[in-house]
Amino acid sequence: MKVTASAPGKLMLYGEHAVVYGSPCIVTAVDQRVRVTVEPNGEGEIHVCSPNVGLDEYHKKISKLGKDDLPKSMAFVEMLVKRVYEKFGLKTGIRISTESDFSTQFGFGSSAAVVAALAKALDLYFDLKMTQKDIFQIAYQAVLDVQGVGSGFDVAASVYGGTIYYVTPGDIIESVWEGNLPMVVGYTGVKADTPTLIRQVAELKRNEGWVESVFADIINLVNKAKTLFEKKDFVQLGKLMNKNQKLLATLNVSSVELDKMIKGAKDAKAYGAKLSGAGGGDCMIALTDKKYSKEVMEGIVSAGGIWMNVKTGAEGVRLEK
Ligand code: MEV
Repeated sequence: MKVTASAPGKLMLYGEHAVVYGSPCIVTAVDQRVRVTVEPNGEGEIHVCSPNVGLDEYHKKISKLGKDDLPKSMAFVEMLVKRVYEKFGLKTGIRISTESDFSTQFGFGSSAAVVAALAKALDLYFDLKMTQKDIFQIAYQAVLDVQGVGSGFDVAASVYGGTIYYVTPGDIIESVWEGNLPMVVGYTGVKADTPTLIRQVAELKRNEGWVESVFADIINLVNKAKTLFEKKDFVQLGKLMNKNQKLLATLNVSSVELDKMIKGAKDAKAYGAKLSGAGGGDCMIALTDKKYSKEVMEGIVSAGGIWMNVKTGAEGVRLEK
């Protein structure tokens, strides 16, 4: 018996940082997936093979899961297995292999996609009959076990797919758009350190009263974006991206690279553009009329960015044939 499940990566559209404090955000799943295979190994251990994170062979006794040495690249896999094994009283050894369409550098949420795909693969392998919500909750828990911080929006995108309105800790998850969005994506070439950026914003919030009003503006903007998706108004959705970017810049999470690429996209007639995710690097996104997609792409590239060929609104976690 061998089971492979996959989950998509994500791009944040509106509401990053504020979402950590219970505000809503809108996120889309991308057509770049992580695949996880679970099969027997005949021993009372887990064996993990993750060449995409430079780990060819890793062993751990079931009784030692989450204890002793926990390599950074293995922490998400190990904590997810620990959570599922504890919840369902499992003891059987398994072999887990992971592979990814995308680099962990892009900020597409590889850890969230790995835990989501692994939870689904374990569900099918052991016939645990978990619902989508169960998979989301256990995968989000494993992320919190490892990172200590995070809103879980990336896990929700990996589990549910599509383009969703999300409120931490997952009580509200609603689809706002079906299918691909008229969007161009650029990568800065710089890896963002999400937990550090979350802590920086937390410190700003503790020390500066005005941060609350920035978060209030972000909440309004996300709720407005939700209604604009219903109206298919991408011109106004673009303007909201610009507004969201300005607010993120006041939180000090943009960067020179991001600013240049965002300007490049806007000069090339994008409806609007912003950073996507924690900031400091990773990717930026631009909404555009399809007839200007090529110009926007070129604007981003001439500003020093790397064009990412991705489609949005991808399917959530699924069994791979
Ligand atoms: C990171 O991609 C987005 C943040 O809002 C963190 C989170 O929601 O977990 C900064």
